[in-house]
Amino acid sequence: MKIDILTIFPEFFKEVFDFGIIRRAKLANIVDLNVHDIREFTTDKHRMTDDRPFGGGDGMVLKPEPIFAAIEKLVGTSDRENYPSGTKVILLSPQGRVFKQAVAREFAEEATHLVLICGRYEGVDERVNETLVTDEISIGDYVLSGGEPAAVVLTDAVVRLLPDALGSDTSAENDSFSDGLLDCPHYTRPAEFRGMKVPEVLLNGNHAEIEKWRKGKALEKTTAIRKDLLGANGECE
Ligand code: ADE
Repeated sequence: MKIDILTIFPEFFKEVFDFGIIRRAKLANIVDLNVHDIREFTTDKHRMTDDRPFGGGDGMVLKPEPIFAAIEKLVGTSDRENYPSGTKVILLSPQGRVFKQAVAREFAEEATHLVLICGRYEGVDERVNETLVTDEISIGDYVLSGGEPAAVVLTDAVVRLLPDALGSDTSAENDSFSDGLLDCPHYTRPAEFRGMKVPEVLLNGNHAEIEKWRKGKALEKTTAIRKDLLGANGECE
């Protein structure tokens, strides 16, 4: 998968993808990840990436011209009807569809090229959204000062789902949310620490019992703090 991130703060991403699974996926060419400075696509003397909003109001709005130029370079066209198949141009903004594990899975399975546009200030010129963007995504119901942290979150959640991104010792199938539930608790050695004991069932080697315990704990935890994840009859949605 190719991922291109468009931002006015490229320095923000300097080291953030150089750890763990994402680093390994880059080194193994599972993902080709590049960060681009929107300013590099300006053509005016002052290299302006933003301007005051028409109609007045606070803050600045990201200008359309450099973003259109960037998409034309990275995707080959600014007509979203003619994007190569597997291309998604994603605007990170608090107005978007809320990012969930199912959306991460959708991108990992369907897309071969993601272009992430990091929104800033009061917003992005709406013509970007109307013409270029295939998906507007929010990472949650709160306002960040820009889309950069959201681009990191989305990239991490998608890349780890790509085939072979996780080592053979781990699997995305056991993740929280993969079956619609929060994850069960985990323990490692020592079996007793400061008087706190690991549940006996995990020590007895009975795999059927352990599975049953894990599923029960996951359900218990989900019911206690994320009832919204469960369907009306207590089943996973
Ligand atoms: N930019 C500002 N807030 C955001 C959010 N919640 N999700 C994605 N991008 C954002």
